[in-house]
Amino acid sequence: MKILIVYTHPNPASFNHAILEAVESTLKGSGHDIRVKDLYQTGFKNVLDGGDFTQIMGGTIPDDIKEEHEDILWAEGLVFIYPVWWIDRPAQLKGWIDRTMLQGFAFDYSPEGMPTGLLKHQKAMVITTTGGPEEFYDQAQMKDMIRRPMCDGTLGFCGIQDVAYKAFFAVPHVTDDVRKGMLEEAKELTRTTFAG
Ligand SMILES: Cc1cc2nc3c(=O)[nH]c(=O)nc-3n(C[C@H](O)[C@H](O)[C@H](O)COP(=O)(O)O)c2cc1C
Repeated sequence: MKILIVYTHPNPASFNHAILEAVESTLKGSGHDIRVKDLYQTGFKNVLDGGDFTQIMGGTIPDDIKEEHEDILWAEGLVFIYPVWWIDRPAQLKGWIDRTMLQGFAFDYSPEGMPTGLLKHQKAMVITTTGGPEEFYDQAQMKDMIRRPMCDGTLGFCGIQDVAYKAFFAVPHVTDDVRKGMLEEAKELTRTTFAG
């Protein structure tokens, strides 16, 4: 399968980078054709601004967005790897979504005003990490707040219903052994999500 990995973390020594390496090597080992988009390395402009609106409303897609669209359309599967920042995606990733997942490209509305997803990817996988422990998220009833915006609000809305999701909790506070176990889990999820 052709798989686009969208990776968002500014620190190459981060645990998220270790997840990226684990996922990338697993996908390559299974024979998939992959492209990695490192959103801090590419420095993709992360603000949908007035200039973008003027161009898009005038029927022109800005060139940097067109390049992203080519990669998104090339892929049959999508992978997102990012840390939870303020109970959401880092602004760099959120801005990538704001600017690329445009009406007419990623979704549209029916004449009755109902949204319809336009993306045809077979599968997506989302792996995220938190600083807070799972018990905190359970007690505060906030677990779904970190899953749904990406899995349902973005990917589901754009037509991708088959989304594998994993949150690794309390990453900075657990032992190295636990983190190693998390990387093994990430590999296993990658294998099962993109098997066959
Ligand atoms: C700007 C910022 C905001 C953060 N917000 C949250 C948050 O809302 N919830 C949480 O559990 N952890 C939060 N964290 C902690 C990170 O999620 C955690 O350090 C990260 O997932 C660990 O992975 P890493 O080593 O790859 O960065 C935040 C960290 C930063 C830098």
